[in-house]
Amino acid sequence: MRIQYHKAMYFMLLFLLALVALVQGDGSWETCADIVPVQRRGAWISLKSFGGVGDGTTVNTAAFARAIARIERRKARGGMLLYVPPGVYLTGPFNLTSHMTLYLARGAVIKATQDTWNWPLIDPLPSYGRGRELPGGRYMSLLHGNGLEDVVITGSNGTIDGQGEVWWNMWRQRSLPFTRPHLVELMYSSDVLISNIVFKNSPFWNIHPVYSSNVVVKGVTILAPYDSPNTDGVDPDSSSNVCIEDSYISTGDDMVAVKSGWDEYGISFGRPSSDITVRRITGSNPFAGFAIGSETSGGVENVLVENLNLFKTGIGIHIKTNAGRGGYIRNVTISDVNIYGSRKGLVISGNVGDHPDENFNPNALPVVDGLTVKNVWGVDVLQPGLIRGIKGLPFTRICLSNVKLNLAPGKDTQPWSCQDVSGGSLEVQPSPCTELTTTSDTGFCTSSF
Ligand SMILES: *[C@@H]1O[C@H](CO)[C@@H](O)[C@H](O)[C@H]1NC(C)=O
Ligand SMILES: *[C@@H]1O[C@H](CO)[C@@H](O)[C@H](O)[C@H]1NC(C)=O
Ligand SMILES: *[C@@H]1O[C@H](CO)[C@@H](O)[C@H](O)[C@H]1NC(C)=O
Repeated sequence: MRIQYHKAMYFMLLFLLALVALVQGDGSWETCADIVPVQRRGAWISLKSFGGVGDGTTVNTAAFARAIARIERRKARGGMLLYVPPGVYLTGPFNLTSHMTLYLARGAVIKATQDTWNWPLIDPLPSYGRGRELPGGRYMSLLHGNGLEDVVITGSNGTIDGQGEVWWNMWRQRSLPFTRPHLVELMYSSDVLISNIVFKNSPFWNIHPVYSSNVVVKGVTILAPYDSPNTDGVDPDSSSNVCIEDSYISTGDDMVAVKSGWDEYGISFGRPSSDITVRRITGSNPFAGFAIGSETSGGVENVLVENLNLFKTGIGIHIKTNAGRGGYIRNVTISDVNIYGSRKGLVISGNVGDHPDENFNPNALPVVDGLTVKNVWGVDVLQPGLIRGIKGLPFTRICLSNVKLNLAPGKDTQPWSCQDVSGGSLEVQPSPCTELTTTSDTGFCTSSF
């Protein structure tokens, strides 16, 4: 009896200690994943029943279309789940529908055909005015959605493989006729959850929510070779309430890049990206760990980024825009970033990126105001930071706090470099540029945490 009682007390104590450790920890308790509730579907169907063959050579585009048409027609209470059994399902692009879950079993692979000449074309996005790479339309994403609600893409870590090599090679040989397709694009959609999937070798950006709201991406693995062109991980674009958490992203371009349209097209479309959370992301890539831009013409605001672990990246954090973009980037907080090897730790730049055409307005200058970067630690960094504001419209209230970047020993390293910027700094090593140390009123910087 007595021993039992002691044992019970002992376990109770352990449990309490564990709870305290979790709550007191580095905020890992926090999540915003609950903005899209997980749905228990009323019914499910298997791709097999619609002619799906997972032998790696049969093309399953029609099977996917038939299964999804069934979900659309049946309108089952609570929606329906489409089960993709283990196997390799070659397919061309297909449309998703509302109130559906696409569920990839462990060992299920949805593999894009390399039949690029039969790939359907869709209209350019109104906020870009043309394809991002080339004038005219663009190839439809492998998984596509337009005007949907309540869409879940999940499973037991099945794989969506874009087989992007053929597209990368066309880009390298300059033989692409139109802009390359994404792996997943959801336009004008809400309540979207993407979790527990491995995304591999996307032809272009991997996951592209655009003109959408309430989007959660969590527990995903996104992989593409370090030298694969433009294989961004997740690009929330003119979208609000987007949460990207607990994922591993190693690709050939930015891990996460928040965007909102391109020059005169983005300005007139006028749809911002707002309320974006990015949390606990690890990975490696030759461009930015976290980026905003460079297409930010609809504006970007209320962004919270925390707990990034970046290995061998080009630029740890990259905020990029350009004259002609217009719009704004404001109220951005980035904290708790570890950088293990990068060319530059932090870049905030007003002269990055190309223009859609000659009709952009060079006087449409972006406003960059209220950016806090705190608790950043790095090793093997070649240059701690580079800030290039815009002449005539400097970046304001840039706050750096507790930023410790250790330069790579024995390498050709450079100091901080700044122009057209004002702000404050606190405990920054190496010592930042005078633009950030001489500002008299740094209340916004010290009071922001
Ligand atoms: C996908 O849906 C769009 C409408 O949003 C339609 O125009 C297009 O033809 C569909 N594509 C395919 C391959 O079914
Ligand atoms: C899927 O992968 C994620 C990320 O690697 C991992 O946390 C999770 O445990 C995996 N889930 C399953 C069911 O294997
Ligand atoms: C700034 O953004 C955060 C989210 O990161 C949000 O909670 C806060 O309300 C925003 N502040 C203002 C003044 O909009």
